[in-house]
Amino acid sequence: MEANNTKKTGAFLPPETVQNQLAAADRIRLRFAAEGKTGTDAPLYYILTFGCQQNEADSERLGGLCVSMGYRRTEDMEKADLILVNTCAIREHAEKKALSIIGSCKHIREKNPGLLVGVGGCMVTQKHRADKLKGSYPYVSFTFDTGAVHLLPSLVENALTGGKRQFIHSDVFEIAEGLPLDRTSKHMAWLSVMYGCNNFCSYCIVPHVRGRERSRRMEDILAEAKMLIADGAKDITLLGQNVNSYGKDLTSDGEGADFADVMRAVCALDGDFRLRFMTSHPKDASDRLIAALADCPKAARHFHLPVQSGSDEILCRMNRKYTSAHYKSLIDRMKAAVPDISITSDIIVGFPGETEEDFEATLDMLRYVEYDMIFSFIYSPRPGTPAAEMEDQVPHEVSTARFERLLALQNEISLRRNERFLDKTLRVLVEGISKTDSAMLTGRGDPVRPVHFPGDPALVGQFVHVKIERITPFTLEGTLVN
Ligand code: 5AD
Ligand code: SF4
Repeated sequence: MEANNTKKTGAFLPPETVQNQLAAADRIRLRFAAEGKTGTDAPLYYILTFGCQQNEADSERLGGLCVSMGYRRTEDMEKADLILVNTCAIREHAEKKALSIIGSCKHIREKNPGLLVGVGGCMVTQKHRADKLKGSYPYVSFTFDTGAVHLLPSLVENALTGGKRQFIHSDVFEIAEGLPLDRTSKHMAWLSVMYGCNNFCSYCIVPHVRGRERSRRMEDILAEAKMLIADGAKDITLLGQNVNSYGKDLTSDGEGADFADVMRAVCALDGDFRLRFMTSHPKDASDRLIAALADCPKAARHFHLPVQSGSDEILCRMNRKYTSAHYKSLIDRMKAAVPDISITSDIIVGFPGETEEDFEATLDMLRYVEYDMIFSFIYSPRPGTPAAEMEDQVPHEVSTARFERLLALQNEISLRRNERFLDKTLRVLVEGISKTDSAMLTGRGDPVRPVHFPGDPALVGQFVHVKIERITPFTLEGTLVN
């Protein structure tokens, strides 16, 4: 995988490249219109997104391009004329799920021979996966890597005009500004501030499939933030694999704006919205960022700071470049600067060589920080990453048993942490109607915990105040306060 480390990562795509794609989208739209396929008769697109928020954000761009081509979104895969699967490669499970869904497109294509199936995202950015789709999945019309989202119109145009199946493996990762968006939620929004990752944690496939770090220009970020706010966004999450590196690639002397400046600038925009961000790397999380969080009233009092392991030996083997002591000192500084902060983390269990003692150190870290919530994962070897070659792979049953112990401890901690909300009133953005009880609404306050309460569906998309009356480790429940 070393060869991938030299992948070219230019900064910005020339604007003409994007314009050419938008022109191709227009040709497709006119072609559909000439066939009477507009309005309620427009062809339908369906996107299935696996993985992280960055993929969600990419899917909204893909959706925007679909709309420019004259497609309309459907939530019913069976009815679609264009199915896009945006894949993830972070763990084997995500790849298996995507492959099984792609497999199920076969019977849809049998019923609708005009169906186009396109596969993008991190899984197919690995050449062996794209080759597999080319060889064994003949009903896949095209694949495109994470640097080729903007090429969707020419891929569709080629397929619609009877061109050969295409498998784009460009290895070039440049920022495409000016792509349209088809947002999936009116009130929640993703806003990428940078792409790629330079960290090469030894277990992680991301730097291999998303290229090196590259930052968007501040003016482009602010213009998009204003557009999102005007379009009704009330909860905006600034995205990057390591937001703390923002700007380092934009100036030769590193003296330009950093992520704390981005936070402050977005928070200073007019409008009633809440700002979140993810993800921070503990080796780069700065006091400037903590201060920005403390100072910005629109910033959610929440910090997602993945520790991955509490053991220094494992952190070193993971190539994380910090110690547990450094991490704890960051946590202390955050809690001092923002006393009501909610802290969350990612944890990997069963990394190669993890001993019982190493695992105990992770449990100790949970007790020290008292996370509101963790996202925990059993280590999954990713071909091409150094950790996959390490000796002492931990047997699956050992990892699974540790995983259960980790969750049991975190559930106790989460319940204890949630107690602080009992009888308190939280400002909550109403996100939707509960999936299990149509009389209940669901939303979120500053902490990431879902809040459930009875209410009128007309409140969806608005900020309300909810008095918390019951808690579980996973949710807060209460009633509306006027
Ligand atoms: N196995 C398990 N979890 C992983 N993550 C990244 N790579 C792997 C892997 N190979 C987890 C990390 C990261 C989160 C997004 O996914 O915890 O922070
Ligand atoms: Fe993966 Fe590490 Fe980069 Fe996060 S910081 S995307 S875990 S390599």
